[in-house]
Amino acid sequence: MEKVFKSFSVKETKKLAKTFAKNYLNKKITLFNGEMGSGKTTFILYMLEALKVKNIAGSPTFNIVNEYKVNNKTILHYDLYRIENENEFRNIDFKEQIENADLVFIEWPNIAEKYLSDYESQIVDIKKLDENSREYILRG
Ligand SMILES: Nc1ncnc2c1ncn2[C@@H]1O[C@H](COP(=O)(O)OP(=O)(O)O)[C@@H](O)[C@H]1O
Ligand SMILES: [Mg+2]
Repeated sequence: MEKVFKSFSVKETKKLAKTFAKNYLNKKITLFNGEMGSGKTTFILYMLEALKVKNIAGSPTFNIVNEYKVNNKTILHYDLYRIENENEFRNIDFKEQIENADLVFIEWPNIAEKYLSDYESQIVDIKKLDENSREYILRG
């Protein structure tokens, strides 16, 4: 499945994230690709909202991962941007964490490629078209 959506405002992105959370989220793991400021975090936070997550903690820029519980389900939101090498990566118990989670959203997933190959995942590629416009390409 590949779907391409254009969003011309943050408000539209909110709607799109909600639609995705309700109708297209069919894998445990979703990977988000796109340059800095393209809208990965924005999209994920709106999905968390749509999934009825309380106390959404914002971007896990510094803490690498934010963990949430909804109806006994565990949702993880990763931002792997600050992970610089494999050694550092091994220190974060990534494999065990995602094994035990129900839903996982990952920004900057490339460093985790090797670890993610065991799982089926969906991909969201984001392109910044101009200041307020984005293209969201959903795959898988
Ligand atoms: N249509 C849009 N969709 C998503 N974000 C948008 C849009 N238009 C402008 N923005 C802005 O782009 C920025 C995206 O930042 P962020 O979500 O943190 O990106 P990333 O996590 O990819 O670095 C935010 O400041 C947001 O307000
Ligand atoms: Mg981000």
